[in-house]
Amino acid sequence: MKHTKVKDLLNSTTTLQEVNAKGWVRTFRNNQFIALNDGSTINNIQCVVDFENTPEETLKRVTTGAAVSVTGTLVESKGAGQKYEIQVKTLEILGDSDAEKFPMQPKKHSLEFLRENAHLRVRTNAFGAIMRVRSVLSFAVHKYFQEKGFVYVNTPIITGSDAEGAGEMFKVTALPFDNTPRTEDGKVNYKEDFFGKETNLTVSGQLEGETFAMALGQIYTFGPTFRAENSNTSRHLAEFWMIEPEVAFNDLDDNMDLAEDFIQYVIKYALDNCGDDLKFLEGRLLEEEKSKPQADRSEMPLLEKLNFVLENNFKRVSYTEAIDILRDSTPNKKKKFNYIINEWGADLQSEHERYLVEKHFKCPVILFDYPANIKAFYMRLNEDGKTVRAMDILFPGIGEIVGGSEREERYDVLIEKMKALEIDEEELSWYLDTRRFGSATHAGFGLGFERLVLFVTGMTNIRDVIPFPRTPGNAEF
Ligand code: 4AD
Ligand code: MG
Repeated sequence: MKHTKVKDLLNSTTTLQEVNAKGWVRTFRNNQFIALNDGSTINNIQCVVDFENTPEETLKRVTTGAAVSVTGTLVESKGAGQKYEIQVKTLEILGDSDAEKFPMQPKKHSLEFLRENAHLRVRTNAFGAIMRVRSVLSFAVHKYFQEKGFVYVNTPIITGSDAEGAGEMFKVTALPFDNTPRTEDGKVNYKEDFFGKETNLTVSGQLEGETFAMALGQIYTFGPTFRAENSNTSRHLAEFWMIEPEVAFNDLDDNMDLAEDFIQYVIKYALDNCGDDLKFLEGRLLEEEKSKPQADRSEMPLLEKLNFVLENNFKRVSYTEAIDILRDSTPNKKKKFNYIINEWGADLQSEHERYLVEKHFKCPVILFDYPANIKAFYMRLNEDGKTVRAMDILFPGIGEIVGGSEREERYDVLIEKMKALEIDEEELSWYLDTRRFGSATHAGFGLGFERLVLFVTGMTNIRDVIPFPRTPGNAEF
């Protein structure tokens, strides 16, 4: 008999059928009740074992974590909490799990402990739920863009360009560390390297994406990106997934509209398709926050917060207005910020972003028109000559979730900017071709996928929303 997924059994419309279920034992109570989970849903199916007619030897092997196969009749459950259960006729142990050694015991484990066991944490309710939500969200990303006619572009992972000019890149090389080939002046001779030049892991697919937008009109990327920034925070990963749409003929306003519509769509999709998982995660968060002081707790339960984002427009505020608000804010005056805002031009730290979103506006915020000198070279210069058409979207509890801009489409202005920043024109000659041939207004943004998953799942550490996190000092698994 083919086995049926637990999710389908629980959603069944008929009873008294013979069924087979396979999964892992979550708990085994009274030598009789197996809570069986197969990952298809957060819910377990209760399997009632006829213990009097089951060999003692077999019963002993029904331990947390063991893989089992049960065959029996699907019946309406007399017990509370579940609609159906399986009256077990045959019970087969597929794979034992030594109760003394299996790390995922049915008790509360710290998130730190679970991180160290990332290969097994996915067998817990919370991580099962998070990873299902993550999967549904990635599907929603593709669904949104595909339905709008965007072309999915796979930009290179190994690249010679530094899109963000941030200089925080992982080098890619096949050169030996001892006897490294050197040039006459003692520098590493990358001409002898695999690609005959210096290469790194991509920090963003944007520049390559732009070339495709200038041919296909509307494109998006969705792939891994890498940053060697030594930020050991709950919001940074060294390897994270980014979604980067780029649209020809869009200006900054269109870009904001697209980002807002997109984010609301994927959140709604998760609400519509991950009800059980999100309800569980809402409960988990409430539980976790019980031990926190009132001021550190979320203002709304998870589902209410997600619905709030769907029902309210994001607040659009210029950088200049934001600086005025911050300068006059209580934490600034009382010197509570680590970085005091004194004047226009200051780069915003996450403490400022979070103040704006969580304390001042109390809703998602789009900040735009940033000072040119704190933003990347490709952003379009405004008429004032000092700000650029940049936008960052800030989310409660997260801070920056999106960074984007209208691009500098004017060849002369772009070249000036690159000269001033000493960016190699030769290296980016291909990029400049988009401005040499048929240049036009265009805009795009990058959404950090894990930051979105953080927001939707109500988790607080980015290490808990990606299967195997890479952070400074950690590349286990
Ligand atoms: O703001 P960033 O650096 O923008 C870009 O890379 C642009 N090229 C995007 C574009 O316009 N096409 O990064 C975009 C987003 C951030 O807003 C943040 O959500 C996420 O990527 N991000 C990170 N997420 C996790 N770990 C990190 N180290 C991240 N760095 C950026
Ligand atoms: Mg940014």
